Amino acid sequence: MADPIRFYFRNVIHEVTNVAPTQTILQHLREDLRCTGTKEGCAEGDCGACTVVVGSLENGALELKAVNSCIQFTPTLDGRALFTVEDLQLPDGRLHPVQQALVDCHGSQCGFCTPGFAMSLWGMYLKHDGQAPSRCQIDDALSGNLCRCTGYRPIIAAAGRMVELPRAEFDRAAVADALRALQRSEGSSYAFDGRSFHAPRTLDELVALRSAHPQALLLAGSTDVGLWVTKQMRELNDIIYIGNVAELKSVAQSEGTLEIGAGVTLQDAYAALCRHYPDALSDMWQRFASLPIRNAGTLGGNVANGSPIGDSMPWLIALGARIVLRGPGGERALAMEDFYLGYQQKDLQHDEFVAALRVPLARDNVRFRTYKLAKRFDQDISAVCAAFALTFEGDIVKEARIAFGGMAATPKRAAAAEAVLNGRAWSEDALKEAMAALAQDFAPLSDMRASSSYRMKTAQNLLRRFWLETRLDHPLPPSAVNAFAAQA
Ligand code: FAD
Ligand code: FES
Ligand code: FES
Repeated sequence: MADPIRFYFRNVIHEVTNVAPTQTILQHLREDLRCTGTKEGCAEGDCGACTVVVGSLENGALELKAVNSCIQFTPTLDGRALFTVEDLQLPDGRLHPVQQALVDCHGSQCGFCTPGFAMSLWGMYLKHDGQAPSRCQIDDALSGNLCRCTGYRPIIAAAGRMVELPRAEFDRAAVADALRALQRSEGSSYAFDGRSFHAPRTLDELVALRSAHPQALLLAGSTDVGLWVTKQMRELNDIIYIGNVAELKSVAQSEGTLEIGAGVTLQDAYAALCRHYPDALSDMWQRFASLPIRNAGTLGGNVANGSPIGDSMPWLIALGARIVLRGPGGERALAMEDFYLGYQQKDLQHDEFVAALRVPLARDNVRFRTYKLAKRFDQDISAVCAAFALTFEGDIVKEARIAFGGMAATPKRAAAAEAVLNGRAWSEDALKEAMAALAQDFAPLSDMRASSSYRMKTAQNLLRRFWLETRLDHPLPPSAVNAFAAQA
């Protein structure tokens, strides 16, 4: 028999049995529950009008995160708590400090974006426990919210103002207790109208389900898959959701390697990685989508989706990371670059899934950077993404690993440019030859993001920038926004 979807909502347990597995949380709120405070702007994770806060138990502790309800499916709420803008008003009827601050600072005009801003601000208010956030933290918390009429200055002012107002308490213990009572001892299977949504809790359950349903779609953070439904209007097969598998959510360090489970969110994965690579990865962390997307999306999903313009693959390839695949026959690990066989083709069997990424830790003799070129700083997809890692023996480049996104049908190494640098001093002459060799490595496409010639020119110039930042005589200070890694 199918399990119902049960989640904590408005202080009670809410049970759902009659929605499609791909119904979005936003649709459920607005169309079924008639809670219309949460708005739909873009239905693709870009504008933040639909922002809600979802609570979950992670290692027994309550975590509360802002996410985009327009691309999350209702069954993913099972065992979780859902908070919307209607939850903010205080029990005595006063506005929550977040709302009062938006009023005081004139942070709303037409008001369409305001519930989303309020929920992003509430997420930050909870995270900082009423303490004043820095400007860097405010900018990041609001990176996924667009406003077309007020402008951002009053809203940023409200983010500072909200912590000056009398503090509003939030009963975390009550929510955590409610969620504890909701936890299942084993995986669940929801079904409606002939389609299933399986949510295993252990790796073994996931392996068995994957073998039994090789045609089912694996779902992680839904930040790619959600759009297949809301924008491409695709009817999805049965779904296997990996977001409840505890073993996939761990980050472990051993023997010079950081092993990141495929279910670790982008936010947690980049936080862990930036402790080891603050100069090289902070900028990418901050510029990867927006906080609500990073709160939901996973590093495993980024790699498994394998978009040629995805941001994590170039630097994973440059660092020599390995991808760990799991199937009924056990585990196999391969070099990241060998995973991508062609456009949308991967070395992944139907009964396998991505279990983890193994990322080598920083070494003194390796110089490493990654750069993203996009039209906007926040929340934009790369036109070109570059990553460079040079291993030195004294002054000589022992091994060059260079990888690009946006330059070919897959994330790809620059073999000719690497060959130029191997065994050479890291000099301007070697640099110029390697820049020229990139033209042998790539014949990029022109599309709406960039022309072919722009991509080639900027790829070459990014290699020069890397040289300027890492040359052995007088390197420039790193360009990364280190304050972000320190404060996020
Ligand atoms: P899902 O959407 O759940 O799945 C994506 C694909 O991977 C599906 O095919 C799924 O079946 C498969 N999959 C997921 N997990 C596994 C697994 N463990 N094993 C096998 N297959 C699996 N991407 C960037 O690179 N940079 C950006 O700046 C960026 N900005 C974005 C901004 C917005 C507004 C949106 C909506 C998306 C953006 N993305 C960006 C894309 C997306 O956020 C990432 O690709 C994300 O990492 C996908 O992870 P997910 O967990 O959400 O994957
Ligand atoms: Fe725009 Fe969800 S409606 S992000
Ligand atoms: Fe109108 Fe922000 S107040 S879009």
